[in-house]
Amino acid sequence: MSEYLGHFSVMLSECLDALELGARASGSMVFADLTFGAGGHTFALSDRVSGSTVFSTDQDPDALRNGEKMILARGKSEAVRLLPMNFQDFPDWCERHQMHGKFAGILMDLGVSSHQFDKMERGFSFRADAPLDMRMNYEDRSTGTAADLLNELPEKEIADILFAYGEERLSRKIAARIVELRQREKIATTGQIEDICFHAYPPKDRHGKTHPATRTFQALRIAVNAELTVLENTLPKLLPFLSDGGVLAVISFHSLEDRIVKHTFKEIVEKKDFPAIILTKKPLTATEEELSQNSRSRSAKLRLLQRVSQLGGVDGVKKKRHSEI
Ligand SMILES: C[S@@+](CC[C@H](N)C(=O)[O-])C[C@H]1O[C@@H](n2cnc3c(N)ncnc32)[C@H](O)[C@@H]1O
Repeated sequence: MSEYLGHFSVMLSECLDALELGARASGSMVFADLTFGAGGHTFALSDRVSGSTVFSTDQDPDALRNGEKMILARGKSEAVRLLPMNFQDFPDWCERHQMHGKFAGILMDLGVSSHQFDKMERGFSFRADAPLDMRMNYEDRSTGTAADLLNELPEKEIADILFAYGEERLSRKIAARIVELRQREKIATTGQIEDICFHAYPPKDRHGKTHPATRTFQALRIAVNAELTVLENTLPKLLPFLSDGGVLAVISFHSLEDRIVKHTFKEIVEKKDFPAIILTKKPLTATEEELSQNSRSRSAKLRLLQRVSQLGGVDGVKKKRHSEI
């Protein structure tokens, strides 16, 4: 029934422990999973905390269609509510539905799903030649594709994107070759960009562990979906909707995302608009056992923030929470 069957949910038990802790500390059984994907975290959470309601968002039409089928097949129409939206609109949705202080836990498992990555026509992967799309929400006509971006932006802006979002040291060379190519033909496929990246690298570096196109593809995907801006804008707006004791759990997959999560958590705690404590001084990472089953977990970092009612007595709470997780 599902194209999503082979999906592996990253750091699942760590996330469930953290969200369940939020439920115990707050007395609420309402959760949000802002990155539904294949529903792995959502359904596991719904099964683990009986009587709970999970509001899950995704912006990907495939994930939403598949999700609705799974909800029906599992008889979860009451317990799991799928909201089709970019999670940057979730705070407004909460505002409209008067969800202040309601959530025991909010989860974000950032980035693309294996389904998006493995479905070649989505254009996230250079493993096959396909249209260079990369929009998570491909039905949103207002968002340009990766091909649009490369056909339209000035060379310097392309180089800046590759450097800022991909940390690609050959960003200028690759951008120059993209602009050279687009003067002869339209940029349209993943194969064109893979070929440019491959030949931009010196021959001795072309067959290493990381393919020469990896950083460029990451950068384009982040730019097309404005991933970092959306994350930066959304994180601080979630706090009013957590209950006292509620936990915000974020899994990131590269240093750019993790830096935003780390700094935003710190700012939230320092600002004190909503008293909160950081439960993970260092981010949690996947166990060896998980790594042996799923190599993508290698780059995963899980950070946890807990809203608290008062700042007094935080240390005691913190120690207890650490040992519980
Ligand atoms: C890594 S997958 C999540 C996998 C999921 N936790 C599971 O176990 O099945 C990330 C999902 O989040 C979605 N996503 C990423 N950024 C989003 C955003 N800004 N708004 C809504 N959905 C987003 C993607 O479309 C993708 O389906």
